[in-house]
Formats: sequence, C-alpha cells, structure tokens
Amino acid sequence: MKRLSRKHGEILASRTLAITAEAKRLKESGEDVVTFASGEPDFDAPQAVQQAAIERIREGGIGYTAAAGIPKLREAVSRKFARDNQLEYELDDIVVSSGAKQCLYNALQVLCEPGDEVLIPRPYWVSYPEMVKAAGATPVFIDLHKGAAGIEADALSAAITERTKALILNTPNNPSGRVFTKAELEAIGKVVEEQDLYVLSDEIYEHLIYEGRHISFASLSKALKARTITINGVSKAYAMTGWRIGYAGAPQPIASRMAALQSHSTSNPNTIAQHAALAALESGSDAVENMRQAFDERRKVMLDVLGDVEALEWQVPKGAFYLFVDIGAFRSHPRFAKADEYSTAFAADLLQRERIAAIPGVAFGCDDYLRLSYATSLERVQVGMDRFTHYIEKLEKK
Ligand SMILES: Cc1ncc(COP(=O)(O)O)c(C=O)c1O
Repeated sequence: MKRLSRKHGEILASRTLAITAEAKRLKESGEDVVTFASGEPDFDAPQAVQQAAIERIREGGIGYTAAAGIPKLREAVSRKFARDNQLEYELDDIVVSSGAKQCLYNALQVLCEPGDEVLIPRPYWVSYPEMVKAAGATPVFIDLHKGAAGIEADALSAAITERTKALILNTPNNPSGRVFTKAELEAIGKVVEEQDLYVLSDEIYEHLIYEGRHISFASLSKALKARTITINGVSKAYAMTGWRIGYAGAPQPIASRMAALQSHSTSNPNTIAQHAALAALESGSDAVENMRQAFDERRKVMLDVLGDVEALEWQVPKGAFYLFVDIGAFRSHPRFAKADEYSTAFAADLLQRERIAAIPGVAFGCDDYLRLSYATSLERVQVGMDRFTHYIEKLEKK
C-alpha cells in the first residue's frame, strides 16, 4: 500500500491525555483526586449566553451561515477589538472559527509552506509545534523558561534564518502565566519588522490578568498590525470552552484565505454557538470580572503555600490560571532517575501517591517543570496544595 502523508505522521497525540485518563479512572473508582490538570474554567457560561442559545434553538432556522461567521457576530468582534484592544478591523478582516485553535490552524496553513520555520517561545502551548508541522513547516524554539526576562531581541534575532516565516506569541501565557509588558513587545516588534516576519498573537487569556495589563501586539503600530494575526475567543473569558467559538483579526488577503480554507473544511462554526458568543461579547464584564477575582484568590493561596517550599522555583503567574513550577531539583531522585521523561514520571508518581493530577512540563517543552492549574475550587486548591507540600517533603527525605 502507498504510504500515508509524512507531514502528519510526525504529529504527536496530546501528551496530557495519559495523566488525565488515569485521573478520570481513579475518580470513577471512588478515589478522591484533586485535579490541577484542567485547562478550562470551572464555571458555567453566563446566564445571558445560555439564554441566547436556548432562544435561538426555539426560534429555529438554524442553517448554515457565512463560512467566516454571521455578520452580527463579526460586527461585535470588530467592536470588541476597538473597545478592548484599540484595533480597527473591518468586517472582512474578521474570521470566526470553531475555537481559537482553528484560527491558529487556519492562519498557519495560510502562511506556511514546506521549508518554512516558525519561531515558538518555550514554554509553549502544547498545540503550537504540532500545528506548525501540520502546515508542513518546522517549529524552532526560543527558550524563555530559565529566568529570561523577555524574548530578548538578541535571542529572537539569533534564532532567525532566511527560512523564518513567523513568530507565535502568547500573552498571557499558557503554561507560565507570564504577561508581556509593552516594552518587551516593542522590542520584539522591532525585530519582527526588521526581519520581515508574520506574528500570530494568541490573546485567549486576555481577560484573566492579575498583575500588569494586556497589550495587543497589533496595537503597537500600523506596520505591526499589517503583519499580525490577532487571535482570541470566548472559551476562557466566558467559560465557553465546549461552545467552540474563536475569532481572528487579520490583514487582507490573509483573512480572506483563512475564510476560504475554512469554507472547504469545517464551514461555519456552530450557528447556535455563534449567537451565544454574540450575547457573551455584548454581556458586559461582570461575569468575567467575578471569575477573574475567584482565580486570583486561588492563585494567591497557591503562591502562599509554595512560598514555604524551598526545593521548588517558579515565576509568579500574572495571568491565565496556571502555575508553572520548576521541579528540576528532584530529577536525580532514585524514583525518577531511570525515567524517559522526568516530568511525566513525576506527574504519574504524584497522582499515584497523593491523588493530585497535574500536567508534566514536557507537554510544554520543559521537562523540568510541572503545570498546576487553579481552575478548581478554592477548597480543592487548599486540599491539593497540602498534599503537594506533603509529597515534596517526603521526596526531600528520599
Ligand atoms: C494558549 C491557548 N491558545 C488557544 C487555546 C484554544 O482555545 P479554544 O478553546 O478557543 O480553541 C488554548 C486552550 O487551552 C490555549 O491555552
């Protein structure tokens, strides 16, 4: 038989699945598992969103829509970009997709061809490298986790070759919670312009910031906007992960090509969810703010507890809902010395002994780290952190 496509043969299945599947199995067998593994808010979508979806179903007429999304939703996205990000996007510059994930996928397919390189700061969100590969291009990593204050212009420049096509930026960052400052983004912008790169700016955690403020990369200048695809969505801000609505603002002809590609793959994102997303974008900021405050309270509890644990290092997360902890101190512990992937073995051991599910850092390109998500109730955060410190204390004793 003829061989299957090489480019998709190299795509890895999600590395987070093994731990979450085992945690689920333990829970179902009655075990008391604390889940620090979640990548989604533990809240419900706002009432106005639920109501809009129900009304839409009752009204009927849920047919196909324009592939790039209903004009009313794209108008609302355009207003949102102007209001929150000081960005002017025309209706035709906006493409609504089945999650920010599809926006990223469409953009990379449109930008890249075989031989191209795409720069990805590490730690990175798990899907970026695989999406780059799916577009036939090669991911090239820039290290940020070892205390680097920013993507220093030098590190970025050093990674650029004549094949470099684009840079993926993610602020606030999953998994580190880092929020890029305006000065850091401006330094990146300078290199991007000089080196003629495109930027995919993933801003999905925009509304979940506890320290600092969000700056949209494209808002820095007209010249940068002309080479940036701004990607966002309703999953994290409105607790609508399963509704699958994301959106992108992009210069022409990138937006048109993304819409054309989508028209031949998934077509329009779910019509009911589009109407619900419209309600979300117009629902004001109360629900988002309540959720942000709840996350912040949990973040502080986690940081307080970790403050007493000397063996671990971390950078204070300023956004998103994750804490990325450096567990490198235990790499040579006899329990893990022979493991192929240290962080995977650490996470599996933590789940077996203390019933805590967390995501191994290797999924984000950093095998010395563990990602703890605080998208779980304050009470469970407290229980989990008690168990976590207990686990670390025991490891220290060998
Ligand atoms: C950094 C980042 N970008 C994009 C996404 C995908 O979001 P969506 O649910 O809109 O596809 C996620 C989801 O975990 C994420 O963490």
